This record gives sequence, structure tokens and C-alpha cells, in this order.
Amino acid sequence: MGFPEDFVWGVSTASYQIEGAAYEDGKGLSVWDVFCRRPGAVWSGHTGDVACDHYHRWRDDVALMQSLGIPAYRLSVSWPRVLPEGTGAVNEKGLSFYERLVDALVGAGIEPWVMLFHWDYPQALFQRGGWLNPDSPGWFADYAALVVERLSDRVSHWFTIEEPPCFIGLGHQTGEHAPGIRLGLSQVLQAGHHALLAHGKGVQAIRADARTTPLVGLVPAGQCYYPATDGDADVEAARRLTFSVADRTCFHHAWWLDPIYLGRYPEDGLAFYRADAPQVAPGDMETIRQPLDFCAINYYSGHAAEAGPDGAPRVLPRPPGYPMTTQSDWAITPSGIYWTARFFHERYGLPIVVTENGHQNNDYVMLDGKVHDPQRIDYTRRHLLELERAMGDGVPVEGYFHWTIMDNFEWAFGYKVRVGLVYTDYTTLERVPKDSAYWYKKVIETNGASLRAEPG
Ligand code: FCB
Repeated sequence: MGFPEDFVWGVSTASYQIEGAAYEDGKGLSVWDVFCRRPGAVWSGHTGDVACDHYHRWRDDVALMQSLGIPAYRLSVSWPRVLPEGTGAVNEKGLSFYERLVDALVGAGIEPWVMLFHWDYPQALFQRGGWLNPDSPGWFADYAALVVERLSDRVSHWFTIEEPPCFIGLGHQTGEHAPGIRLGLSQVLQAGHHALLAHGKGVQAIRADARTTPLVGLVPAGQCYYPATDGDADVEAARRLTFSVADRTCFHHAWWLDPIYLGRYPEDGLAFYRADAPQVAPGDMETIRQPLDFCAINYYSGHAAEAGPDGAPRVLPRPPGYPMTTQSDWAITPSGIYWTARFFHERYGLPIVVTENGHQNNDYVMLDGKVHDPQRIDYTRRHLLELERAMGDGVPVEGYFHWTIMDNFEWAFGYKVRVGLVYTDYTTLERVPKDSAYWYKKVIETNGASLRAEPG
């Protein structure tokens, strides 16, 4: 076994995290532009005003990716950059930025995979009620149609929305992310329902307007679990926890994905939320459940699960002093990517694409002028080997997109946390490929064979 010949190797980014140029060329405000100005909202008061200045340096960034042998690049489009008010008047300068970028990528032999919405929601739409407004799915579909109409002769891989638990849950329930409000659960879930409808209508718009046959998905988030042992009872415990909805947070995969892939909210979630569950109008579930071409997963960290003495699943605490953690204190748990890929394929029946996986580290340029990041290499190698194991056990995995190509604005952490294969100097905006970038290049060149050739 190994990685299939046509395996897609890539890297991911998001518009707000890299572009900068927040107030240029007619771009409208996003909720993140506003949120970053709220005292205490983002670590050290950082903003995405400049970020990696990718809006001006995109040519160099494409050349950099090409030099690192990256075959596929998942980018996101900034909604308020192309539609400053969120609907209506088009900002040609914004839209043509993405046209030029996509042209350059294609010219460099890098396949663009385009995410339509990775959290930089138009502030103008937020002021009209945002995701709580029943018109919000339609706003998104119109925006999707616009972008697809302009880019789909060159782009065939599309994603609708990114991690609804984050932009709905962190954005509207806990207030840790933009727009930074705290709604009651019923409103949170209603906003989430509108986001699901936006996804469904977005898929319809993509399929209706695309000029080349589109392949469409969405990118999820949620808690991941892996069995403490390979015993059947522990495997079942991890599976049950992976798809259960049993508390008032938004980080339950099944709450979002069962409607999308199976056309219904999960029973346990409906029973748990009761009166807080969203209002579902006739036809909504049909709209939400559009055929998709792959099942994306984002995997960073998971929890060990086991069957307790009464058979009920339970989460094992992290052992004291567990050494494998990232700078954000996320436990490094590579077998979770194996089980997440496997559980998701079993439940939803589609091929898997890993749209994010990466390591937060405190990288810096060392005396020799290089950025040595052995932890990121080890992290990525372990996860890719687990992914290969999943494929060996019959799980079709079509691609892997490392998060992320270069250090960038890490949301509420600001620039504190570095997740890139390439180091960004935020003073000079110089990019310095880390050891992991050259290592990943080798992995790609050998289609994964180098993962096994290394010691350990
Ligand atoms: C994911 C986000 C991505 C990045 C990584 C580290 O949840 O989608 O933008 O912040 O985490």
C-alpha cells in the first residue's frame, strides 16, 4: 500500500488570515475587521490589516509554492472584498484579484481549490441580522453564483462554508471569534440552521452556474475521538462519541453533518436541545442535503475514548505531563486522524479529503538563518502515516491539505501562534521556508514514500 498515484497533496489558507489590504481597492468591512478593534478580543490587539500582505505579494507566494513543489492550494475568497455590502454592487477590483491569483496558480501548475466562506463575513450583512436573518442563505447563494460564474472556467473544486461550529459557535455563542456576540442557544442553533441552508443553496448555485463540472464539499469541525485500544468495545465507544450530540456546545460533528449528508438532524441532539432546536420549514432538509463529491475532514487533535464498566463511552483524561502538545496546548494524537477518516467514511459513504492538519509551534529564525521545526515534521509525518494506514484498511482518501503554507493571523491568537510551513517575518514580511517546507516537498515528490524511509 502507499498513497494512490492521483493523491492530491496541497496546502490551505484563508483570506483574512493572509491577505491584509483590509481597507484597499474598495473592499468592504468584514466582521473580523471590526472584531479585531475591540479591546481584548485578539491577543495583543493584533489585526489582519496587513497579515502576510498576500494581497500585494500573491505573485511571489505563488512562485514560492511552485518552488516548494505544491500541487494544490486551497484558498478562500473574501466575501466583502468582492461584494462590499455583502449583496448587490460588485467590487470589480476585488473579484479580479482572485481571477489573477487563480490564473497565476494554474499557470504555475498548482490546482486551486476554492472555499467561498472562511469566516470574514460582510459587516454590512451582520448589521442586517447576519446568520439570524432568514434571507442569509439567499445572500450566500447569490455571492456563490457570482464567484462561480467568474472563476469556474479555471476552478473545479469548491467548498461552500468553513467550520460552522467556529463561525456560529465561537462567533455567536461564546463570543471568542467575530462577530463576538453571545446569543442564547435557540438563536445560535437557528443561525446554524441558516448556515446549513446557505451551504445547500450554495451547492445548488455552484452546480447551476459552473462552467466546468464542479466537485463540491464543505469543511467541518468538531471534537474527534479515537479508541484507547483496538478492542471492539473501545472502537464503538469512540464512534459513538464522535457522532453524539450531548452538550450545549456547537462542536458536535453530527449536528452539522447529518443534515448535510443524511438529510436529518441527529435524534439525540433534537432530544437534548428540545425547545432550543431550530425551526425547520418544509423543504429545508432537502435543500441542505445536496449531493457532495467528497467528505472533508479537518483534524488537529482528538480525545482517547473507552467503553466504561457499564459499557457507556467515556473520555480518558490526558495523562499528567503528556509531552506531545502544541503551543496552543492541543494534544498531539495522530491515531485520531485514522479513526476520524474511517468513522466519517463509514457513516457518510464518501471519499475523504483532509482539508486541514497542522502544528502550532513557536518557530523562529535560528543563528544559522534557518527555521528548524522538527516538531512540525514529526507531527505531520505521524498523521500522514496514520492516513496511509487508513487507506490500507480500505478508507478512500483522495487528498491532504496541510494547514498552512505560511505563518498567518491565527484568529483570536493573533500572530502569537505559528502554524506555517513557511516562516513569516511580520516586520519585513519576508518569507523563510522552514525545514518542514523542504521536508513536505520531498514527501510530495516521492508521493509519500519518504515518510516510510525515514528512521523511527
Ligand atoms: C482551523 C481554522 C484555520 C486555522 C486552524 C489552525 O480551525 O479553520 O483557519 O485557524 O484552525
